[in-house]
Amino acid sequence: MTRPQSFSAGAPSKLILFGEHAVVYGHAAVAVPLAEPCALATAGLTQAGVPVTVALEDFKLTWSRGEEPAASELRPFARLVESLVKTGRVPDNGWALAVRSAVPIGCGLGSGAAVAAASLRAVYGLFGVSRSDADLSADVYEVERLLHGSPSGVDNTVIAHGRPVLFKKGSPPKFLPAPARALRLAVADTGWRHKTAEVVSDVAQRRREAPGLCDGIFEEIGSLAAEGARAFESGDHRRLGVLMDENQGLLVRLGVSSGSLDHLVGAARAAGALGAKLCGAGKGGCMAALAESGEHALRVARALEEEGAKRVFVARVGVAEGMACRERKD
Ligand code: PMV
Repeated sequence: MTRPQSFSAGAPSKLILFGEHAVVYGHAAVAVPLAEPCALATAGLTQAGVPVTVALEDFKLTWSRGEEPAASELRPFARLVESLVKTGRVPDNGWALAVRSAVPIGCGLGSGAAVAAASLRAVYGLFGVSRSDADLSADVYEVERLLHGSPSGVDNTVIAHGRPVLFKKGSPPKFLPAPARALRLAVADTGWRHKTAEVVSDVAQRRREAPGLCDGIFEEIGSLAAEGARAFESGDHRRLGVLMDENQGLLVRLGVSSGSLDHLVGAARAAGALGAKLCGAGKGGCMAALAESGEHALRVARALEEEGAKRVFVARVGVAEGMACRERKD
């Protein structure tokens, strides 16, 4: 069989519907893949002996193996290439990787895991390395761990598998069956960036100061996630919305919301959203609002734009969406 000269692949972004932060402490979380925004990567053969290169097309940045990365955006990819070469699964020269991503960075949509999953999938595809989704998830986790310390594992799981999941650290992921009704969401970016590791460490500090309070909050969030998974499966969107609002209240008490997140959450509710909450680490980044229909999601999105959101995505979440972008060739 002849090897392809190049191989393109994609990976979805993700939204945590319930459970951010509590998931770090072993409680359940529900996360779903989003087909848009997504990350795309192409790996191609160059000449034998030529160092591996990475091009980040959005930033017009390139890195050549052996060089010090010239910008912070390149550093994760240099780590990714080194760990990939170290496994012995791919050659240490003679190939190039080009990456594009519409997933805003530091925003709660799993940008790091999405670009890592798309990149690994493209490189594995180029060299005919057979890796299951579970393998890919483990590989993405390793990249995330190198960069962020000890992530819970929810991002790599939902993004590599591309399926809605009820996730609990240390247990096999429980993938959720197709929801009785697809979710329609408006996802808005406050424009404020966070560093996940910093927010997670702030929460750890708060837990040291007030262990009873924080563990109580985590416990409640975990219960909401378990109930949320049932509401997701049964298509009970009204209940889902109520649970999202409750989750947001608990995240506010945990101290990870922000003025701009609270403002957009309020604007979404005023526009009739069934529920709204921040998503990801918080203290900036994105929020998500559950709408009644696709048309309603557009109206909520417009309201969020009018209230200052920097970018708004309208998403449909069923079961196939996360798979849709993995084989993308554009
Ligand atoms: O903001 P993000 O996309 O990095 O999501 C972070 C989710 C946390 O629960 C806060 C951390 C984790 O490792 O799960």
